[in-house]
Amino acid sequence: MKTAIIFYSFSGNTRRAAQFLKEQLAKKGVAADLIDLKLKEDVKAFFKQCQHALFKKTPELVGADYNLEKYGFLMFSSPVWAFTITPALRSYLGGISSLENKKAACFLTYGSGSGSAKALRELESVLREKGAHIMFSKNLSGFRTKNTTYLEERFRPLLEIITP
Ligand SMILES: Cc1cc2nc3c(=O)[nH]c(=O)nc-3n(C[C@H](O)[C@H](O)[C@H](O)COP(=O)(O)O)c2cc1C
Repeated sequence: MKTAIIFYSFSGNTRRAAQFLKEQLAKKGVAADLIDLKLKEDVKAFFKQCQHALFKKTPELVGADYNLEKYGFLMFSSPVWAFTITPALRSYLGGISSLENKKAACFLTYGSGSGSAKALRELESVLREKGAHIMFSKNLSGFRTKNTTYLEERFRPLLEIITP
């Protein structure tokens, strides 16, 4: 089943987790495309980032691939920002008309962990509203994304259900 991992990462933790997942999937013979979301205008100041996340801004993305027809399994990922998902992922989700008949997974990376459960529930609910069947949903400690044993353990349930 063709798979895509769609993610936003500002400081690299989420990208590292997505890359690890891609590699683990490849070992199982499952090819996954990484769709790395980029903002047209990157916001770099912490306060502004929090403000944009809190107010559920949907900034413009550049070069985002919305051609999801070819994928049967879609994975969505983002850091937690201000107890919610990032504006970049919110923008991308807003541009998807339907996820009917798609299998989906989601994972977020967090710092302190505050608001991470709420953010994950919110992401799940957006995916469900679009018709996706959520097969896996998990929060990951951003600090621990360099620890492959940790990532292996967190992603194990997902890797067990995916077959080529
Ligand atoms: C603007 C901003 C807001 C954040 N808000 C939260 C938060 O509410 N809860 C939390 O646990 N971590 C929060 N974090 C920490 C990030 O979620 C964490 O470091 C994440 O792994 C970063 O992912 P990245 O390296 O892919 O950008 C925040 C980080 C930033 C930059």
